[in-house]
Amino acid sequence: MQLTQPFPNHAPGQNLYEQVADRIQSLIAEGTLQVGDRLPSVRKLHEQWSISISTVLEAYRLLEDRGLIAARPQSGYYVKQSFLKATNEPQPSAPPQKPRHVDNSLGFRVICTIRDSQTIKLGAAVPSMELLPLNALNRLMGQILRQNATLAHAYDVPPGCEPLRHEVARRLMDAGCSISPDQIVTTNGTFESVYLALKATTQPGDTVAIESPTYYGLLEALEILHLKALELPTHPRDGLSLCHLEAALQKKRIAACALVSNFSNPLGTCMSDSKKQQVVELLTQYEVPLIEDDIYGDLYFEGSRPKAMKSFDRAGLVLYCSSSSKTLSPGFRVGWTAPGRYQAKVEQLKWIINQTTAIAPQLTIAAFLSNGGYDRHLRQLRRAYQSQMARMAQAIHDYFPPETRVTRPNGGHVLWLELPTHCNALQLYETALQHHISIAPGQIFSPSNSYENCCRLNCGLPWSDEIDRAMQTLGRLIAQQA
Ligand SMILES: Cc1ncc(COP(=O)(O)O)c(C=O)c1O
Repeated sequence: MQLTQPFPNHAPGQNLYEQVADRIQSLIAEGTLQVGDRLPSVRKLHEQWSISISTVLEAYRLLEDRGLIAARPQSGYYVKQSFLKATNEPQPSAPPQKPRHVDNSLGFRVICTIRDSQTIKLGAAVPSMELLPLNALNRLMGQILRQNATLAHAYDVPPGCEPLRHEVARRLMDAGCSISPDQIVTTNGTFESVYLALKATTQPGDTVAIESPTYYGLLEALEILHLKALELPTHPRDGLSLCHLEAALQKKRIAACALVSNFSNPLGTCMSDSKKQQVVELLTQYEVPLIEDDIYGDLYFEGSRPKAMKSFDRAGLVLYCSSSSKTLSPGFRVGWTAPGRYQAKVEQLKWIINQTTAIAPQLTIAAFLSNGGYDRHLRQLRRAYQSQMARMAQAIHDYFPPETRVTRPNGGHVLWLELPTHCNALQLYETALQHHISIAPGQIFSPSNSYENCCRLNCGLPWSDEIDRAMQTLGRLIAQQA
């Protein structure tokens, strides 16, 4: 569609101004609108696309938030020099092809920096409390405790709180899954879901295939369960290498595969539906279970919610794991898993480890998911994360050495950076901490301590002068390593 044709019918489930913004963003990505081009005036687009003036204004404001356009006084809106074009992407990874034991004590040290209120938290992937609906959740929790004065204090047994399982099953339909509430087990967060899934599918000494770089919490779980990791080469946009996965399967080297399916951490990868299906089919062919961590699936920036790999599971081999930690409340520790054919084992393990998850937080999350406020909240949250990520990428472009490469995720809230090859991210982490800035050094995302010159930055915090200054400081510290 060009700028001169009327805008197509309003698709349900998304605001019209967001659709208009998405369309203009596509025109920029396709090169129809180029850096420096003037956008049609508000009145002109209102006439050409037959949409209201306020819709055009909202759409232009959204594109400004996304860092794609800028208003010039008395002149109109122009396409900005976008970080998407200005900064190169990291290369696909090429980790050593050998299963290895994991020792990731450094990851725990990095995460502990979230305790220090003086530190600017660009290290741990934490959402800002300002962006979460804390008042609404606190009110709901009060109501729930009044209405369930005894229930909230009783023992429960796996699979856990029925109203939550019902809401999770309903929302999983958006991810392409038809799962009944009985097929879901509630947990203390995604981390526990992944831990239970690993424990249900492997024995100590087994090898688990993982993306590289990967979420360091997964490495910690592998370590504590005495599992080895086989790192697979991973493309920042397309995800893990299918041929390396197949080669490992042929050699019967792996007991399970563990992936973050949508907007992975740290790369921000979101595989296409066909690739997701291929991975599930390949693993099914070799009867190898897939542990799918989908914690960021609701945080897409454009279009609709990406599918879960679970939606392609016909053999019950996908153990789906997620939580409300990135969208509603990390502290409530409310998560879930749909463990397929491993359900009985997962329920037993959950019971042995900590019996059940506290009832009041589960009921609170269930009430929030059911009362209709969740979608509105998600729209605001996604918009905030997208604009924060654009600001962060712009700051990387402005303050970091020009050889720096950065990912271009379409969701989630982390960026992965490849700094110039002489840089040492661990040293940068130590010196940045002295300036009260935390970053996540690349070494913690790999059992082979690869990614020495890489780091992950959290974009979960609203942009501020303080963050801008922190980025300038990081740029200076990187330059001093030369
Ligand atoms: C990919 C991934 N999985 C799991 C977790 C932990 O989730 P939860 O807090 O729900 O246990 C995180 C947190 O950063 C994460 O990024």
